[in-house]
Amino acid sequence: MKILVTGGLGFIGSHTVVELVNAGYEPVIVDDLSNSDPKILDQIARIIGYKPVFHKLDLSNEHSVKELAVNEPDIDGIIHFAAFKAVGESVQKPLKYYRNNFYSLINLLESYYGKPLNFVFSSSCTVYGQPEHLPVTEAAPVQPAQSPYGNTKQIAEEILQDMVASGSNYKVISLRYFNPVGAHETALIGELPIGVPQNLVPFITQTAIGKRQKITVFGNDYNTPDGSCVRDYIHVVDLAKAHVAALKLAEKDSFKGYDVFNIGTGKGNTVLDVIHAFERTTGVKLNYEIGPRRAGDVEKVWGDVTKSTNKLGWKAELGIDAMMASAWEWEKYIAQNPL
Ligand code: WQD
Repeated sequence: MKILVTGGLGFIGSHTVVELVNAGYEPVIVDDLSNSDPKILDQIARIIGYKPVFHKLDLSNEHSVKELAVNEPDIDGIIHFAAFKAVGESVQKPLKYYRNNFYSLINLLESYYGKPLNFVFSSSCTVYGQPEHLPVTEAAPVQPAQSPYGNTKQIAEEILQDMVASGSNYKVISLRYFNPVGAHETALIGELPIGVPQNLVPFITQTAIGKRQKITVFGNDYNTPDGSCVRDYIHVVDLAKAHVAALKLAEKDSFKGYDVFNIGTGKGNTVLDVIHAFERTTGVKLNYEIGPRRAGDVEKVWGDVTKSTNKLGWKAELGIDAMMASAWEWEKYIAQNPL
């Protein structure tokens, strides 16, 4: 079964390409390289033993995507990661985000319209905002978006639901990720933030390796066990495996239409928990200080993953220590072997 993986050279995309091959699928990678490095293709090849087909193209260009559908007609499924995803940048440049994230999705859906296709969409727990009840289930209301980035995820889910309701050929599963962290056990692929990392774990590993002087904990006056924010951190390899599980569910004759699943561990960790887990697991002391809250941060969110366990037949297997250890091995690898 041939699976188109858009954004397949990115952090989650590259790990999903590896798990697709492990599950016997043939991935076809599409990436515009706007937020990924072409050398990741060689790194993937070192893990799976061959270099997958790769098309460099901008999915927001309608002509390019129509050409792709002509060159790659025998696709059985699509996993759609390709999107701009920096929350802060989306507030500064909303049109860039709406153009790219919506044009890409619609071009893809229109170009492959007609034959039956299983479509897995990369969504985000950001659609929940600050949930009223925790852990948050898929039935929780989608809150007004905190950023244009979050809005593109919410509206993309609506576009997919409307398309399925109109009687399309697609079977669609949206996966609402919590916080993906960590790296592959080979340390050959991992998170490659461009410039100063916005996210917690790459900032931790870059501080530990000496690229950053210290890490600031954005607030410790929240209503949480130690005052710092709570998130549901999930190992990127567990997250990648959830995409394979989603494809297998969509392939079943019994699956019809559209469904959505939380992809997390079901457990919350505070920022300080993560810092302490990193220190405990790696033996590396972190230079951190408490600073002011970051605008837009949700106080606490973690997922109820009952539906994913029961209906998707998937459950996270790796804990916070494995996430920290793998992130650290990757940071050390990339410091020794710049791509
Ligand atoms: C986690 C916690 C920060 C950096 C975002 C997007 C989400 C998804 C993942 C794309 C927060 C704290 C962070 C630092 C800190 N992105 N922090 N010091 O904001 O939960 O989620 O990234 O899909 O959609 O919203 O992740 O890693 O930025 O922050 O204290 O230097 O770590 O305040 O509480 P976030 P994050």
